[in-house]
Amino acid sequence: KDPLLLRAARGEAVERVPVWMMRQAGRHMQEYRDLIKKYPTFRERSEIHEVSTEISLQPYRRYGTDGVILFSDILTPLPGMGVDFKIEEKTGPKLVPMRTWESVNAMHTIDSEKACPFVGQTLRDLKKEVGSNATVLGFVGCPYTLATYMVEGGSSREYLEIKKMMFTEPELLHAMLAKIADSIGDYGIYQIESGAQVIQVFDSWAGHLSPKDYDVFAAPYQKKVIQKIKSSHPEVPIIIYINKSGALLERMSQSGADIISLDWTVTIEEARKRIGNDIGIQGNLDPAALFAPNEVIKERTEEILRACGGRNHVMNLGHGIEATTSEEKAEFFINTVKNFRF
Ligand code: CP3
Repeated sequence: KDPLLLRAARGEAVERVPVWMMRQAGRHMQEYRDLIKKYPTFRERSEIHEVSTEISLQPYRRYGTDGVILFSDILTPLPGMGVDFKIEEKTGPKLVPMRTWESVNAMHTIDSEKACPFVGQTLRDLKKEVGSNATVLGFVGCPYTLATYMVEGGSSREYLEIKKMMFTEPELLHAMLAKIADSIGDYGIYQIESGAQVIQVFDSWAGHLSPKDYDVFAAPYQKKVIQKIKSSHPEVPIIIYINKSGALLERMSQSGADIISLDWTVTIEEARKRIGNDIGIQGNLDPAALFAPNEVIKERTEEILRACGGRNHVMNLGHGIEATTSEEKAEFFINTVKNFRF
């Protein structure tokens, strides 16, 4: 029998609502913080397959989550396209900013098995380890969000460099986005063929675009990635996530994804009205709610479960779990969902 989350993601009737947490593998867990002492850089932790497998399994063992997400990053496939990066513990990703035709022309198509064999190995090991007790999730970054890191050279607050490129050299940005889409589609397929049963696509920063620019620079490239994956694996559910996406729900429902991962800025009732009944929902508890007293966590969580009605729903947070969340609160949230019945 297929695992619960996979069946729910396909829209089948299920015995209870499945649950996992975005960014569940990582900073909020003591075991992870202990591992940092032995493997100080993010690239080691995510690119030595034994280590990334172990980290991926930590929240599964601790909480019994229904989803086990690959411990990796959206930037992980970039070296396979000729784009190097570093992750600094304090400030996050660092890249040499790409703002010229020369830098875009130097990008090449990924050979995923050659560039990221550790991703394939981790997914194979995760699948073997969890069997039908949990669903293995792979993930990719969407072209616009990846391009923000490549053009800005790292994280950004206002995204001015990529927006300057968008307004002054749109063809250059399109060339970059098209190249990324091509490789990311292949990389998603590689994850599925290695064991990922569901793929989440993150266009985290596309919510910072005006609707007009979103339609030109984000949406078409999300669709390219999703269509490429669907054309070889139509049966694999795809979840789409965008941060601060309240204004974009109708657009997200046209992306080709099977499930929209909602942030906490919309109610389930409003989201349903706007996306219709043919698409699944993931989410959408505010990660900050995990700092509330247990009664409040329970009340807010059950409110979401009831509003979704137990069909076409994967319970989750509205964004990644905060690093300072206690493991007891995370555990309480997971158990609240697992114990809930209609
Ligand atoms: O948060 C999102 O919107 C999800 C999409 C996303 C990921 N990485 C997925 C991810 C984004 C936007 C990134 C970029 C990135 N990479 C950041 C954010 C910086 C910014 O601009 O705000 C950071 C800090 C990294 C580096 C990174 N990625 C670290 C240090 C870690 C491990 C520890 C942790 O929890 O922060 C990651 C893990 C990571 N990034 C996962 C995913 C899906 C792994 C799965 C998981 O942790 O459960």
